[in-house]
Amino acid sequence: MHFLITAGGTREYIDPVRFISNASSGRMGFALARAALKSGHRVTLITGATALRPPVAAKMVNVETAAEMFEAVKKHFPRCDCLVMAAAVSDYTPVKRAKAKIKSSGRALTIKLEPTADILKWAGAHKKRSQIVVGFALEDRNVRANAERKLRAKNLDMIVVNTPAAIGVARSTIEIKGRDFGWLRVRNASKVTIARRIISRVEGLAE
Ligand code: CTP
Repeated sequence: MHFLITAGGTREYIDPVRFISNASSGRMGFALARAALKSGHRVTLITGATALRPPVAAKMVNVETAAEMFEAVKKHFPRCDCLVMAAAVSDYTPVKRAKAKIKSSGRALTIKLEPTADILKWAGAHKKRSQIVVGFALEDRNVRANAERKLRAKNLDMIVVNTPAAIGVARSTIEIKGRDFGWLRVRNASKVTIARRIISRVEGLAE
């Protein structure tokens, strides 16, 4: 199979040197890329800024902003069998990026934000019958109900849910729900183990 995987957080620029981002390390997406390669698949990895070493056999696409990530996904999606959106895409971006560095004035500063495009939703709406789309959700309450709503609303084949406690740490507990299968829990596992379980579930869906 050809996997298109997104990883890391996006950077939404306020001015040439300042941006809004999040604590995503990119580790989950990179672990997914390695797990897919190890199972003999082809991988295109679209990543926001990370400090991680790229998997040698993956085709790497580096992006910074949510808008760039969307362009890259639109370009590569038609040729993939499965998209896994593990990236922490910013939901909002500044309406304007100042051309020059903003000077400190000592006064309050308001930054107006507008929503970014929902890449996962776009992929769910544009997928061919043979394509598999997997989303991630970060939920801190009503975990299963919220995730099931997202699975349906975004026309996903599978959703992987974690809690904010999973950000940036080595081991975590996640839950997976497929369109055609019930809840599965992977308890206190490394990202490598979680990645292997996700890839093998996708292989099951593709059969
Ligand atoms: N995502 C995306 N495009 C965005 C924002 C998020 O494709 N502009 C994807 C992420 O890669 C991830 C999933 O959507 O797969 C994350 O969704 P999440 O942030 O949990 O939920 P939201 O849909 O943003 O809803 P909410 O924040 O209201 O829970």
